[in-house]
Amino acid sequence: MRAEDEWGAAVGALLVRRLDARPGSRLCLPTGDTPEPAYAAFAALGGSLAATDVFLLDEFLLPDGHQARCDVMLRRMLLDRLEEAPRRFHRLDVGAADLDAECARYDTLAAARPFDLILLGLGSNGHIGLNEPGIAGDSATRVVKLHPGTVEHAAHYGKGARPEFGVTLGMKAILASHEVWLLVTGRHKAEILERALTGPIGPDVPASYLQRHPDVTVFADTPAAELLSS
Ligand code: PGA
Repeated sequence: MRAEDEWGAAVGALLVRRLDARPGSRLCLPTGDTPEPAYAAFAALGGSLAATDVFLLDEFLLPDGHQARCDVMLRRMLLDRLEEAPRRFHRLDVGAADLDAECARYDTLAAARPFDLILLGLGSNGHIGLNEPGIAGDSATRVVKLHPGTVEHAAHYGKGARPEFGVTLGMKAILASHEVWLLVTGRHKAEILERALTGPIGPDVPASYLQRHPDVTVFADTPAAELLSS
């Protein structure tokens, strides 16, 4: 088994158990390269979201159905692989005529009952969701201008996409979640993971705000964890 599949199998199995034990959970999910092996394992193990309300973490301002859209990625890497649809599936509608109002709607929905569990990837620049460096720790769900590195990275999700803007669940809603699983793989994430977990808390590395959260579990593979002492 490839190391990344082994990591994915472990995380996927834990997610199956976690959701089976607590039907009715509100679960917020990321997309991107990192969670894919975990989602594949979740599906292969017969995991179900039929009793779970799923929320998508963020979205790029790209046309409906674009291969690099987060909703399309989540369907491709997880939802389409499951026998049943989630109990509910919520996402930010980037086609809305008034995007600020759409972000406010999503923020209110998230605040109504904090997520039981949120899974997060870690951007190479320290972002979580699309909360880019410079963001305040209590930011609301909103439209964001993406950093050049994020735009660059999105291109490989499909068809050379170059979204300049995105929408993201804000830091406030992320930090209000009862439990956080931070998923990090690859040696190229080792420095930023170390900074996020042990560096100063602040806007330079948005993931550093997670140090203030009481229940964060970091699922890092061996290369990503290389600079951590314990
Ligand atoms: P990746 O993206 O999983 O594709 O590396 C993570 C992120 O940018 O949040």
